[in-house]
Amino acid sequence: MREASEETLTEAVIEKLASCSDPRLQSIMTALIRHLHAFAREVELSEAEWAEGIRFLTATGQMCDERRQEFILLSDVLGLSMLVDAINHRKPEGATESTVLGPFYVAGAPELEPGATIMRGGGGEPVAVRGRVLTPGSQPIAGALVDVWQTAPNGFYDTQDPTQPAFNLRGRFRTDGAGAFHFRTVKPASYPLPTDGTVGRMLAALGRHPFRPAHIHFIVQAPGYESLTTHLFAAGDPYLDSDAVFGVKNSLIVEFRPAADGNGLTLDYDFGLKPAA
Ligand SMILES: [Fe+2]
Repeated sequence: MREASEETLTEAVIEKLASCSDPRLQSIMTALIRHLHAFAREVELSEAEWAEGIRFLTATGQMCDERRQEFILLSDVLGLSMLVDAINHRKPEGATESTVLGPFYVAGAPELEPGATIMRGGGGEPVAVRGRVLTPGSQPIAGALVDVWQTAPNGFYDTQDPTQPAFNLRGRFRTDGAGAFHFRTVKPASYPLPTDGTVGRMLAALGRHPFRPAHIHFIVQAPGYESLTTHLFAAGDPYLDSDAVFGVKNSLIVEFRPAADGNGLTLDYDFGLKPAA
């Protein structure tokens, strides 16, 4: 097509994909172009608004490095991360629900002995975390890897806070023959997403608060099972009903209970893994 009009432009662009040799890529790009054009038509996008959108995405990319992932944050606050999660993880009865990975995961946290603490600094309310990794039929899974990370009591992850040692409040634990794991930590805090970047400015412009309810992140993996990425949220947190990234599920809200010996808090939770397809 030599001269595309407002009406024919969308089909003209899609026709260009006819020679794509990857059918899945062709299908994704066809839908993306259709929806992107429909969006511009629906809002009658002005040139100034289009240019502002380009500036916003450029600045979002420029915020990103090994420690800061502004695009994951953008996906999270737009609800896209939770939608992709929901599409990809329809759980059977007995399997734990998943939620967002978030932008603060760091691979390669040290594997620690059972019962070790992940708190490398000081302060905070001590918590003993205990749980098991189970099949949907409640059979123990030995040798599962439980990867955990969370904020310090000041609401910051180690990667955001130069006063914390590297890998503070991060660790990996193996389940024993009964599928059990335990470790020590401190109670996490509710925290605002970083507000010094494009996502923070967007939330402010939209009149949205940036807070997430307090939580501990988990990735639980075992051979023969789907990897589980989830959080446990602290019951009673004021942001449970307005999580900035829409990550809360009722089945993931847990009580931090006073320990029987009067020493800090305890958190008990069993994870269920879905067998790999
Ligand atoms: Fe988090």
